Amino acid sequence: MKRNILFVDDDANILQGLRRMLRPMRDKWDTFFATSGKEALEIMARERIDAVVSDMRMPGMDGPELLHHVMREYPDAVRFALSGYSDKELVNRSIAPTHQYITKPCDEKMLVAALEQAIAARELVPNKAVLDKLARIEHLPVLPRIYNRISEELAKGDPSPKDIGDIVAQDVGLSTNILKLVNSAYFGLARHISTPQQATIVLGVNVIRSLILSLHVFQNFDPLGRQSFSLPLLWGHCIRTASIARALAEHEGLPREQVDYAYIAALLHDVGKLLLDAQCSDDCQRVYEVVRQQNRRVAEVEMEVLGLTHAQVGAYLLGLWGLPGPVVHSVARHHAPEPEPGPIGTTEIVYFANLLEHEVIVFNEHYARPTPEPQRLAAVGGPARYEAWRQLALELGLQPQCE
Ligand SMILES: [Fe+2]
Ligand SMILES: [Fe+2]
Repeated sequence: MKRNILFVDDDANILQGLRRMLRPMRDKWDTFFATSGKEALEIMARERIDAVVSDMRMPGMDGPELLHHVMREYPDAVRFALSGYSDKELVNRSIAPTHQYITKPCDEKMLVAALEQAIAARELVPNKAVLDKLARIEHLPVLPRIYNRISEELAKGDPSPKDIGDIVAQDVGLSTNILKLVNSAYFGLARHISTPQQATIVLGVNVIRSLILSLHVFQNFDPLGRQSFSLPLLWGHCIRTASIARALAEHEGLPREQVDYAYIAALLHDVGKLLLDAQCSDDCQRVYEVVRQQNRRVAEVEMEVLGLTHAQVGAYLLGLWGLPGPVVHSVARHHAPEPEPGPIGTTEIVYFANLLEHEVIVFNEHYARPTPEPQRLAAVGGPARYEAWRQLALELGLQPQCE
């Protein structure tokens, strides 16, 4: 099915440039162009628009105002903001309705990939009623700009860890949190790390980048919802799952890029729990009650009560953020019963890292200890492989409580 994408900018030259740039997409996309917020809303009233990409600074209705309108009237349309570095105030006003910021001038490949992925993310949530609910979330955390800045730096070539550390250091609050985290028992580092630059050198750019994302998500949800579960416990579970995932991926000789994907996906694999808790607090309470009383698995009960799982919801958010496909896919499938065809990749690694974390560390004694799905176990080589991985996870010496 062809997608309808709407671009909004008061500068006709920019729209012209976009039109030219996106010509190769014409078999997949129908593109619409508006020079004002008003015109954009008129188009949206007659066409089913899948994604809106809006400039921020426009006379009359500006970008934040337009995106707020779109969020209210057409909640399931993907909302991107095109912004320059000078648009700080506008960016702040557009945080609630924006799924992703694209920096001007934008790179064609990046924009196309980000749009395709964000649109596809909606398909990860099969239940239309729940998707509508999710799409209306005003507090859906936006991809932090610092993450984009680091990604841009990485895209330029091979930046030194010090350069990346310098970017992190500009955000004092974030730097403090990163340092607190890397010096905690989760990382078990032999020496004290005192600057973000040092942290990036010791842990690597991708670990730092994923920590930024996950800190961001957890902090965003802290005051929200009723918290049907313990936030610090979930955070600990995610960070340990990430360490196990990395160890398994390295042990299996996966290429560097896939090791990083496995780490990021494992770190973020349960973010859907936060989203669900913030939005369907009562239903979530029920889910966890059933889980405790009947000693069943969370994902299974979520399916019964909510019609979808936290795995799908988490993948939806990460997809909207434009995280790499293997990361989104691994998160979406971390409770699925069927294995991934082909050789062991990030999806299987994340699935087993999650199970092994529950096995090595008793996260909550009321929860059923998960065992691998027979099909997934068989696909990675059966109980012998699982036992080898379990040993590997044990050797990491992960701690149940930290700080
Ligand atoms: Fe999960
Ligand atoms: Fe988990």
